[in-house]
Amino acid sequence: MSKTAKIQIGEETYEYPILEGTRGPKVVDIRSFYKDSGMFTFDPGFTSTASCKSEITFINGEKGELRYRGYKIEDLVKEHNYIDICYLLLHAKLPTKEQSLEFDNELRHRAFVDEGFKNLFNAFPRTAHPMAMLSSAVTALSAFYFDHLNITDDLGFEEMATRIIAKIPTLSAIAYRRTLGIPLIYPDIDRYFTENFLYMMRAYPGGKFHREVGQIAPTTVKEIEVKALDTIFTLHADHEQNASTTTVRTVASTGAHPYAAISAGINALWGRAHGGANESVIAQLEMIGDVKNVDKYIKKAKDPNDPFRLMGFGHRVYKNFDPRAKILKKLQDQLKEELKLDSRLLEIAHKIEEIALRDEYFVKRNLYPNIDFYSGVILSALGIPRNMFTAIFVIGRTVGWISQWMEFKKDPKAKIARPRQLYLGD
Ligand code: ACO
Repeated sequence: MSKTAKIQIGEETYEYPILEGTRGPKVVDIRSFYKDSGMFTFDPGFTSTASCKSEITFINGEKGELRYRGYKIEDLVKEHNYIDICYLLLHAKLPTKEQSLEFDNELRHRAFVDEGFKNLFNAFPRTAHPMAMLSSAVTALSAFYFDHLNITDDLGFEEMATRIIAKIPTLSAIAYRRTLGIPLIYPDIDRYFTENFLYMMRAYPGGKFHREVGQIAPTTVKEIEVKALDTIFTLHADHEQNASTTTVRTVASTGAHPYAAISAGINALWGRAHGGANESVIAQLEMIGDVKNVDKYIKKAKDPNDPFRLMGFGHRVYKNFDPRAKILKKLQDQLKEELKLDSRLLEIAHKIEEIALRDEYFVKRNLYPNIDFYSGVILSALGIPRNMFTAIFVIGRTVGWISQWMEFKKDPKAKIARPRQLYLGD
């Protein structure tokens, strides 16, 4: 196959190199197209545009394949915990046992936030959405650690990345507790990352847990719950150049503070078409209410004149089963009894899935369940309220965003993101 692509416009022919990645489609390098021809390319929504070179995450949407740093997601979930995944994304290699323990220890020590955050959170009304508080708190982190604007060496990058990964669960738990108007719980240095988050969500002051009448031993965070949430964090850790990651890279390209870039990513994730879908899935299942109503809503989803969409279905890249959804579906089955998953919602979800997977409308458009379709029922069983679902996504995804931020910053050829337009005004 030719190593160049030719574009003919009238009498002129322009020739562009074809770049080959290690996986995925070839890419035509049209960077000089405007200079050569005086024309722009038009690709709203970036459906045919590779916006950067990356070595972090690979998705094959046709095959339903996802890899972090070359490792298949299915293997990573089986063999590693979430903090190993963070290490892998940040360092491009899996940690040794010692490195994993050291990283775990560092995250525990960095989980605390400045006491000034109490004032910040208390300034929000209790009705504020946790995502609004979380994005504001992450922007505020850039005020507390302003030195990060000038980091240039690997150690500085690492410290900045580790700090935000460690603090995100703490800030998320404080945001949740603010919605209830209850005092925050400090991180417990004796607890693993994921366990610590559940602890900060659930514990009573003094680190005590809710107890039933007459119960002597207080209930703590169960191992199976930690494992389930750890898997959810792992599955959300990175996902190539999606809307929020592209937002992070765009903000990074302006030279803004790294935590300001992550905050922008959080806001981009909040939307219903992106990470906000997990909250909408459960809302939709509740609205459908009963299996007998599923047909009616499937009909609405197929009606081109009705804006109703099946939340948790479809994906820009996956034209096959989302591999993350497959893993979560299996996890749902495993946890059904032990975590007492909501059988009514599960029944409705299974019915939707069963119909959609063989209905011509969904089949023709390659609309499969995505990760958000399955995460909500598990999160609910963990006692996580619906308005915290997207914050859970944020906790998992922060490492991906920061890894992508670092990759961008370390590229000497990185340019400010500045697309052009097809002007149709006066
Ligand atoms: N329900 C019904 N129809 C759908 C759905 C859906 N969930 N998703 C797409 N379609 C239809 C569209 O109406 C369109 O039909 P048409 O060709 O007849 O006009 C066709 O499928 C293609 O849809 P687009 O919106 O063009 O696809 P796009 O790649 O731009 O959007 C998206 C992908 C945003 C995820 C979309 O499928 C959607 O809105 N899904 C529901 C929200 C959701 O679950 N988001 C989470 C995504 S995963 C994540 O971010 C973690």
